[in-house]
Amino acid sequence: MSIRIVGTGSALPERKVTNEEIAELVDTSDEWIRERTGIGSRYVSTKETVASLAADACVRALRQAGREAEEVQLLLVATCTPEDALPCMACQVQEKIGAVNAVAFDVNAACAGFLFALNTAWAYIASGIYENALIVGSEVLSKMIDWNDRGTCILFGDGAGAVMVEKCTQGGVLGFVQHSDGKKGAVLTCGSRQLNNLYVKSSEGESYVQMDGREVFSFAVKQIPLTIQQALEKAALAVGDVDLFVLHQANKRIIDGIARRLGVDISRFPMNLDRVGNTSSAAIPLLLDELNREGRIEKGQIIVLSGFGAGLACGACVMEW
Ligand code: UT7
Repeated sequence: MSIRIVGTGSALPERKVTNEEIAELVDTSDEWIRERTGIGSRYVSTKETVASLAADACVRALRQAGREAEEVQLLLVATCTPEDALPCMACQVQEKIGAVNAVAFDVNAACAGFLFALNTAWAYIASGIYENALIVGSEVLSKMIDWNDRGTCILFGDGAGAVMVEKCTQGGVLGFVQHSDGKKGAVLTCGSRQLNNLYVKSSEGESYVQMDGREVFSFAVKQIPLTIQQALEKAALAVGDVDLFVLHQANKRIIDGIARRLGVDISRFPMNLDRVGNTSSAAIPLLLDELNREGRIEKGQIIVLSGFGAGLACGACVMEW
C-alpha cells in the first residue's frame, strides 16, 4: 500500500516585491541577488495569512482531484510561521474549507516540513488508519524576517502549495528518507515567545530569522545528494531513472551544486525561485503545482522531491506520478 498525488493547488499573496525594491531597503542590488541566489522577485503578504493561503491552495487541490472537502480524512499543515500558537493552522484551514470530517494538525520541520508531512500521511495511510490526506505547506515568512538584514531579507517569500493524496496499490510513493540533526540547530534560528511568567520577567523583544548562510549552503550541497541516493535505493531505482528533481527552492547555486554532485543535467531540476524566492515548506508543493498545471509532469514519470532547512532537517521522496 502506498499513496499517490491526485490533485495539486497553490496560492500566492497579491503583492510582488522585486529585487530593486529590496535594494531600496538594504545595501544590495538586483545583480548581486540574481548572481548569488537566482532570485528575481518574491511575494509578500499584505493581508494574506498562513491559514488563508493554505485554504486557497487546498481548495484548488481538492478541485483538481475532484474531491469534496467533507471527504478529507487527514489534514496536515506544514508551517514554521503560524500566526497563532492556538488553535493550530490545520484546524483553522479545516474550518475555512469545511473539511468537517478531517483530523487536523500542524507539522513543523521548517523547509523540510512539507516532506515530513507527506511522509506522515504516507505512514497513516499505509497502515490503514486513513485512506486520504490533504497536505499543505504554507508560510508567511515575511513577518519573521529582519528587513534590515541583507543576508536573509533577499531570500524569503510567502506562499502555499497543497497536494491531495490517496491510497494506491501501484506506483505512488516508492521510497522515503528523513534526517534531523539538532546539533546544528544554531545555524538557522528564529526565537519565539520568551519565558515570562510568575517567576521570570523577560526583557527581550521580538526575534527574527538568523542564519549562517554558508553553513546551510554547504549542508544542503553535501547532504541532499546522499539523501536522494538513499531514497532511490529504497525505491530500487538509480539517478538515471529520474525524470524530474523537484527540490526545495532555496538558492539556484545550491540546486546547481546538487545536480553536479549527482551527475545529472540541470534541465531535470525545474525551478521557480526566480519568481517566488524561498517559501520554506511551501516551496516544493508550489513548484509541483506549477509543473502539474503546465502539463510538465506525465503519468508514469519518476519524480524525486527533496527539502532541507532549519533543524537541521532534510528528506527525500521518490514517487511514480
Ligand atoms: O531554506 C533553507 C534556508 N536557507 C538557505 O538555503 C540559504 C543558504 N545560503 C545561501 O543561499 C547563501 O549563503 C546566501 C545567499 C545567504 C549568501 O551568499 P554567499 O555567497 O554565501 O555570501 P556570503 O555570506 O559568503 O557573503 C559574501 C559577501 C560578504 O561580504 P564580504 O564579507 O565578502 O565583504 C557579505 O557581506 O557578500 C556580502 N553580502 C551581500 N552583498 C550584497 C551578503 N548578503 C549580501 C547582499 N547583497 N544581499
